[in-house]
Amino acid sequence: MSQPASSPATVTVTLPGGAYDISIGRNVLAGAGQRVAALGQVRKVAIVTDDHVGPLHAAVLEASLSAAGLEHARISIPPGETSKSYGMFAQVCDGLLAARIERKDVVLALGGGVVGDLAGFAAATLRRGVRLVQAPTTLLAQVDSSVGGKTGINSPHGKNLVGAFHQPSLVLADTALIDTLPLRERKAGYAEVVKYGLINDHGFFEWCERHGAVVIAGGPELDHAVAVSCAAKAAIVMRDEREDGERALLNLGHTFAHAIERIVAYDNARMVHGEAVSVGLALAFRFSVALGLCSGQDAARVTAHLGALGMPTRLGDVPGGAGSPEAMLNAMAQDKKVSAGELTFILARGIGDSFIARNIPADTVIRFLDHEMTGT
Ligand code: GLY
Repeated sequence: MSQPASSPATVTVTLPGGAYDISIGRNVLAGAGQRVAALGQVRKVAIVTDDHVGPLHAAVLEASLSAAGLEHARISIPPGETSKSYGMFAQVCDGLLAARIERKDVVLALGGGVVGDLAGFAAATLRRGVRLVQAPTTLLAQVDSSVGGKTGINSPHGKNLVGAFHQPSLVLADTALIDTLPLRERKAGYAEVVKYGLINDHGFFEWCERHGAVVIAGGPELDHAVAVSCAAKAAIVMRDEREDGERALLNLGHTFAHAIERIVAYDNARMVHGEAVSVGLALAFRFSVALGLCSGQDAARVTAHLGALGMPTRLGDVPGGAGSPEAMLNAMAQDKKVSAGELTFILARGIGDSFIARNIPADTVIRFLDHEMTGT
């Protein structure tokens, strides 16, 4: 759906290391040059993108940088999670050095979560840290991964196990770019939008119930959804930048989701991250009901909302199946958030009332998963 440009919304993230703006709106990428130049003392910008996004969106960005008198270079990586590797990290760092990116220059990540995480980690380490601008091009990256400073790559031991906190100096969330995404990816990103309502904002969940379909279709409500999501994430990150506590709430649904992703061997044809999060959110609420923490009505409402938008909500929705309860538990136990063999979940007392629950016994998890898989 084509929409006119709107004036951008700004969310400011204020942290001990400095503040940065998240600029949200249609066509903010076309104004990138001025915004980047305003960071001060920038001579050159290295755009890190992928071979799919670059041909679609880099030209607008490059024209804007040129108009602002900024030199620029482009480094493109193959799309997909496999690019978050040691090898590609080395290639990007060497590409940045070959482009003579100096301490005051900027690495600009133009892409989804993979590009943002990889380029962000390169920016965190190049010359012991250069400035980073995130220009997320997927809904999922706009509402989650581009905000908050988590960067990193995967190791054969697991996802995101090598990385650094490196806050961006600016985030440019151009919501017009979401128009070019396949419906499946927009729905997957929407799971992370709903998550913010479920964590601590009952009113936003109600808003999602009314407007979710138009958000996914790319209506004007999309900008509002992205702005509320970024503000919600920013508020949590400002209180707990390094995930010593509250930031873990952002992992609502993710313990189940990460296990599902492992079970499907990260095969995007079977399930992408946001789809696994959709199942994970519904499971987290039903698990909360099983533990006597949350009302069945609230869990049913979460499942109904996601289901009405055609999003998966059950382990039976995982193409090819989610394996056995034991396989799921084993996949969860590999999660880096497991400490001293104890399982930590984000659970809910109700919609908008989530909390961190530690020491959940494995046999309780198995019983719940068995019930989910067999109905017994
Ligand atoms: N995506 C979760 C976080 O940034 O903490």
